[in-house]
Amino acid sequence: MEVKVLKSEEINNEVSNRIINLVNSNKNAILGLATGSTPVGVYKKLAEAYKEGKVSFKTIRSFNLDEYIGLTEDNDQSYRYFMNHNLFDHIDIDKNNTKVPCGLGDVEKNAKDYDAAIDAAGGIDFQILGIGSDGHIAFNEPGTSFNEGTHIAELTDQTITDNARFFAKKEDVPTKAITMGLASIMKAKEIVLIAVGANKAEAVKELINGKMSEDWPCTILQKHNNVTIYADEAAYSKVTK
Ligand code: F6R
Repeated sequence: MEVKVLKSEEINNEVSNRIINLVNSNKNAILGLATGSTPVGVYKKLAEAYKEGKVSFKTIRSFNLDEYIGLTEDNDQSYRYFMNHNLFDHIDIDKNNTKVPCGLGDVEKNAKDYDAAIDAAGGIDFQILGIGSDGHIAFNEPGTSFNEGTHIAELTDQTITDNARFFAKKEDVPTKAITMGLASIMKAKEIVLIAVGANKAEAVKELINGKMSEDWPCTILQKHNNVTIYADEAAYSKVTK
């Protein structure tokens, strides 16, 4: 696991450059994408690079990590809406090639089909991750089995409280999500996790110093052979050297 402590702007530059280099060298690249506050700066840089003619996403495919259960695509709190608004509407990617797990209808079947679709596409080349203050990655909350594929997850009260900032009130935050599992994420060839801000410090400490444990889902990354952790000073502040 490589760890880089940088300023948030530097993290956005470095991660977006890694994605641009990958896409420019592999027209069939498959990106694993995240939502939330963390990747927004990276997505802005990708949109800028596209506008400046430095990269094209025309033949690129993507799979998102997760989606709330019960929200339609046009709901401005859905992760499909987030992705369109923050990235896909600003680059030349074919939206048919962008997949977000579907949280409507037969969600158990959707979950099974999602892992099959990732495998059929050849697997994720580059996975971008944020991290929850409780150490979740995607919506794999503490206690989730390391062996789970895409599944339906109950959000913890901590995550609901953390995400309430995006909603009018806490009661509006969905309590369930469809999420790629830890086993699905671990299949990605290359993983980049970004952690910014003091509220991520405990989770980053466990990720780097902690014992691998399902109590801290992020610690599964310790056994992946190509992971880079990008943290700012605040998120790194509790790590012991
Ligand atoms: C989002 C996701 C979540 C977030 C995490 C951090 O697709 O999978 O695990 O990465 O909750 O959220 P932010 O970035 O809003 O702090």
